[in-house]
Parts: sequence; structure tokens; C-alpha cells
Amino acid sequence: MCGIIGYVGKRPAVPILVEGLRRLEYRGYDSAGVALASPGDIAITKAAGRLSVIEQRVDFTQPQTQGIGHTRWATHGAPTDINAHPHVGGDGLIALIHNGIVENNRSLRTYLMQHEVQFESETDTEVLAQLIAHFYEGDLEKAVRKALHEVSGTYGIAVVCADEPDLIVAARKGSPLIIGVGTDEHILASDAAAILAHTTQVVYMGEGEVAVIRPDSLRLTTLDAIPVAKDIEKVEWTLDQIELAGYDHFMLKEIHEQPEAIENCLRGRIDVKEGKIHLGGLVDCARELARAKRIVITACGTAWHAGLVGEYLFEELVRVPTETEYASEFRYRNPIIDDGTVVLGVSQSGETTDTHSALVEAKQRGAMVLGIVNVVGSTIAREVDAGVFLHVGPEIGVASTKAFTGQLAVLAMMACFLGRRKHLSPTAAAQFISALAKIPDQMRQVLDNTTATREVVKEYVDCDNWLYLGRGYNYPAALEGALKIKEVSYIHAEGLPAAEMKHGPIALITQGMPVVCIATDGIQYDKIRNNISEVRTRGGSVIAIATEGNTEIKEMVEHVIYVPDTIEPLQPLITSIPLQLIAYEAAVLRGCNVDKPRNLAKSVTVE
Ligand code: M6R
Repeated sequence: MCGIIGYVGKRPAVPILVEGLRRLEYRGYDSAGVALASPGDIAITKAAGRLSVIEQRVDFTQPQTQGIGHTRWATHGAPTDINAHPHVGGDGLIALIHNGIVENNRSLRTYLMQHEVQFESETDTEVLAQLIAHFYEGDLEKAVRKALHEVSGTYGIAVVCADEPDLIVAARKGSPLIIGVGTDEHILASDAAAILAHTTQVVYMGEGEVAVIRPDSLRLTTLDAIPVAKDIEKVEWTLDQIELAGYDHFMLKEIHEQPEAIENCLRGRIDVKEGKIHLGGLVDCARELARAKRIVITACGTAWHAGLVGEYLFEELVRVPTETEYASEFRYRNPIIDDGTVVLGVSQSGETTDTHSALVEAKQRGAMVLGIVNVVGSTIAREVDAGVFLHVGPEIGVASTKAFTGQLAVLAMMACFLGRRKHLSPTAAAQFISALAKIPDQMRQVLDNTTATREVVKEYVDCDNWLYLGRGYNYPAALEGALKIKEVSYIHAEGLPAAEMKHGPIALITQGMPVVCIATDGIQYDKIRNNISEVRTRGGSVIAIATEGNTEIKEMVEHVIYVPDTIEPLQPLITSIPLQLIAYEAAVLRGCNVDKPRNLAKSVTVE
């Protein structure tokens, strides 16, 4: 995915565009650029590399009061100066920024080349810019519509034209755009983070809509020019939430925010006294949900790991067959969906294309479709039949942390909520809820003492291969721990259900190889203790995550990180915190860019 910003108003555009891009850099950071429109001219500054390159090159004193900016995550064409956005069409008449993929770009390129159009870059975006210029006959809006009718694929675009410099035309299909409404100004962006410094009043563009944006007017229509009426909505996030607040990295800030984030997530939803769960987003469909014969949870990456915990929770508390599927696989494998199937998408951003497409597929096949999403106003949040927001605040770090534990908390509440409508007794529900209410303070306890984790990581930071083992609810936590360390420190790690190790991966264990074993108290503790012995017999060094008070384990392993005791279904909420910290510390010690890991972007809006 990429970051998009556009400004039309009365103030100089450059500082607003660059500051907006700074806030959007987490969406993509391999190149960036801005285009400033003035009568008869579009000035473009773009370059490969981080935004700082543009900050050095762009003239902040330029007077133009409209322009567009982009931060890129490369899909078509390597991250080079030429491939960076904005791209121009018609010899500099038009400039365009784009998030998404023009799937038929080859045939469009051939068509345009037959009409003497010459291309500078390898990108699909330049094809779209040239196509708009090709159709331009003095009316940018018309040219954009005509060009988009020829395009198959996905796009969030912003286009400016030297002939109509006080205008941005934006359009979206499969890629989010939001418009901030100020006094005599509008700010277009791919997400609210870039708008918050200016206004909290926004209009969310819907799928297939085109926006014609001028300083003092905003008009939305369908691609076929049918007017669309829109309400102005208020964004609830604050500026503080998207700033570092003294932390070195967003990942560390967000790890430490978890106690408060989970408190916010649980607030008003759990009633410890009454032993009840209130989920406003599910009230209207609770009956239908309780009739579900099967639940399919679909998601990607970290959200998929949360979904796997959800599978265990639903089967244990609701006693409904549940399976968790990678969204990208589910979508294309002709899944069996019948009346009794409920499909639940889990997504922090609410914009992940694979997850969104899986839900669209499920809906088309007649399933009731639910969402667990963090970003209010996101595509998935708007399109599902019902759902529950995480309310953990904006997550800026590319490596998901507080959204993961937020997803676990919501899944736990959903399982208890549905369980009560099926098999779960009031007493069991009350015990579950009271354990859930303790989680934020238990997280605080873990975060109050992180020195041990740092010391352990120092010892193994040069090892390039790690294993993560867990059983039961902690098996998905092990997968998540391995993903975390991979993505931020580039250490190769594998997460496994501990018992699976002996069926092959045990061959990897060599003298001193770090093996993180989640060995908290529970019905499988004895089993994981055996797995620990198997690792140690082969020379592996075990870092155990164990329950406070377990003195025995100290004698068995190289290192122990203690966590407070909770019931097994909630353990991943606690055990994942030391795993996040291990990944963070490893990344810092290895000199990696924690918040902008190589090749990654915050959410993946391409297939
Ligand atoms: O926004 P989503 O939750 O749908 O994103 C899904 C994955 O792309 C995401 O969790 C990814 O795996 C993160 N980089 C993990 O830290």
C-alpha cells in the first residue's frame, strides 16, 4: 500500500503535503514525491528513498496552495526516482498519484503507444496518468471518468491538472480515501493520520466514488456521474495517539500502550459484577449468530494468528465448529458456505485486500459476514453485516502489537457472548469475564520489568535461526512471536506447535540455538516440559516464558521470563508481550529500522 495526500486551500501546500507524508510514511517508504499545481505548470519533486530525501530537495517556500503527495510501496517497477509518484501525462499537463494496481496496464500501454505516447517509467501508474491525459479535452473530471472506465484493477488516485490548478479529482476502488473538511480547504488522504493535524471533520469516500475537490466545494459522484450525498463524520483519534510521545519507536510505544488499549477495548463491554458481555455491534444479529452451525475466521498475518486463538476460543466456549483460514486461500478455493456458516474477518486496518475480498466472496455466497476491525470507517468495517471494533487507538508501527492483543480481547468477548447463548454457564462466564478484567493490570506487571528480556536477547542476537514453541492457546502465540522477530529484526524464526517439533524441525536444533518455549501453567504444561528436554538434549538453548511461581523450570532451562497467571484461553494476551519485546530488542540491537522494516508496509492493499 502507499500513502496519498492532497491539499486544495488557501495555505501554501508544501508544508502540509510533507507533514502529511511524514504521518503516512508507515504505509510505504521506498520512494516519495509531491506535485504542485499552478496555472499552466505542475512542479514535481520525487525521489527513491525515505521522505527525508524529498524534504531536502523540495522548496518549502513555493507559493502554490494546491498539490498532491505520495509515499510508495513498490509493486510495479523497482523503487527508483523515475518510478516514484507523482507520474505525469500529456507532457506535464496532468500529474497523478496512485495506490493499487492497474491490472490491464499492459494492454493500455500498448494502446497508448499506438497513439504516440512515450513512457518514462515501468509503472502501471504512469499508464493511468497518460490515459487520463489522452482523454483530456479541457475537463479533468470527465477525462478521469473516461479513463477509469477502461481500467481493471484497484485504485485510490488523486489527479491535478495544470489547466485547472484549484482542483483535485480523486477516485477510489479497493483503496481507501478520506477527505478532511476545513475552512476554505480540503485535505485528501489515504488515512486519517495525515488529516488529524488540520481537522477531525471528514468525509469517507465510498467504493467506486469520484470526488471533485476545490478549496470551497466538495462534490461526490459515482463513476457514472450520479451524485452521492455524504455526511461529514468525526474522527475519534487524537493527534497525541499518532505521535511518538518520547518513545524511540512506535512499536515500543504501542507495546507499552497495551494495558490502556485493552482497557479501552473492554470498557463498557464487560460487566464483572453481572458476569455479562455487552457487544453493541452484535446485538441485532445475536440470535442469528447463535444459530450458526459453523464459523470461519479469515485474516492475514498477525490477524490470522489472532483468528487461530479465536478458533480455539469459539470451539471451547461456544462449541461451534470453527476454522481459521488464510484469506488469500479461502477466497480462491471455492469454499463451502451454507446458510449456517458465519464468516468473520479480522483486520487491524480494515483495508487488507485479501481479507476484504474473502469477505466479499463469502457474502456473495450467502454467508453472514462479520468484522473485527480497528480502523473506523475502513472498507471492511463499512461492508460487513455486523462487527466489533477494537478501540485500541491508531497502530502506526508496521509490526502489529496492540492490535493483536486487541483482536484477542475482542475474540474472547465474542466467544463468551456467544457461549452464553449456547452452552456456557453463568458461573463459567463470570469466571472468564473476571479473568479478562484483570488482563490490563497483568500486562502492566509484565511491562514494568523488561530488563530480563533485554539481557536474554543480548546473548542470542547474533543467532540467525530461532524456534518458537507453544501448545494449545499458546501455539498461535508462538507463531506470532516468530513472525514478530522475522519482520523487525530479519532473524529467521519458525513458530510451531511444540509437539510437531519432533516430526521434523528438531533436525534444525544445534548447539546454542535459541528456542523460545511458552511453558505457562495449564493442562499441557507437562507435555511442553518434555519438549523442553528434547530441545536441551540436542544442545538448544531454551528461553522459557513461564508462570510466576514456577521454580522448577529455572533448573531446566537457560533463561526464564515470568508472566502472571491467568486462565489458559487468555494466556496469549500476556505471553505475547515478552515475545513482542524480544523482537523489538533484537531489532534495535541489530540496528534495524524497527518501524519501517525492509520490504514491508503497514497494510497490504494488493493481492
Ligand atoms: O490490517 P490487517 O490486520 O488486515 O493486516 C494483516 C497483516 O498484513 C498484518 O497483520 C501483518 O502481518 C503485520 N505486519 C504483522 O505485524
